[in-house]
Amino acid sequence: MLKKIAILASGNGTNAEKIIQYFNTSDIASVVSVGTNKEDAGVIDRAKKLGVPHFTFQKKELENGSVRALLMIKRIDLIVLAGFLLKIPDNLIKGFPNAIINIHPALLPKFGGKGMYGMNVHKAVKDAGEQQSGITIHWVNEHYDEGQVIFQKRVDLSPNDTPAQIAAKVQELEHNYYPKVIENLLK
Ligand code: GAR
Repeated sequence: MLKKIAILASGNGTNAEKIIQYFNTSDIASVVSVGTNKEDAGVIDRAKKLGVPHFTFQKKELENGSVRALLMIKRIDLIVLAGFLLKIPDNLIKGFPNAIINIHPALLPKFGGKGMYGMNVHKAVKDAGEQQSGITIHWVNEHYDEGQVIFQKRVDLSPNDTPAQIAAKVQELEHNYYPKVIENLLK
């Protein structure tokens, strides 16, 4: 039977789109639901375009267990965070043990933690004069960006790269590797 993936995202949703497309033809898993805490998130249009059911929720519904209940009814096997910016509460972690993963647009443990998302991360990497950045895919635990690392991939930076150019290099890695890493976990 196909494993069921739910994606949680707060933003544009380019990773969500790549993951949905990748699993459209898979005999291992399928993306059955996309959840977002932002009513105007780009990810909603992408889910609609690709015919994947979506739902929106408020922070308090994440915290009071409503989102957990919904995902349990759908019998989700893996929750994939793709640019999801709220902290995952204990109720969800306990309800889905070893079944929530996140992607971070840098090489953790560097440049992680609260407030480190999207361009903030790439600006910090630039300011630190790093010669490399990359992606980290990790299990989600109760601390931001501290769960066990599943996969990392590096990319070389040039001293002239702007934060936007760093973001583009990292995004290419995300789109290439996140779907494949998910597939390996579900095999
Ligand atoms: C991605 O780069 C992801 O790594 C990052 O948000 C972006 C979402 O892009 N996540 C974090 O920074 C989490 N701390 P997308 O909406 O186009 O997929």
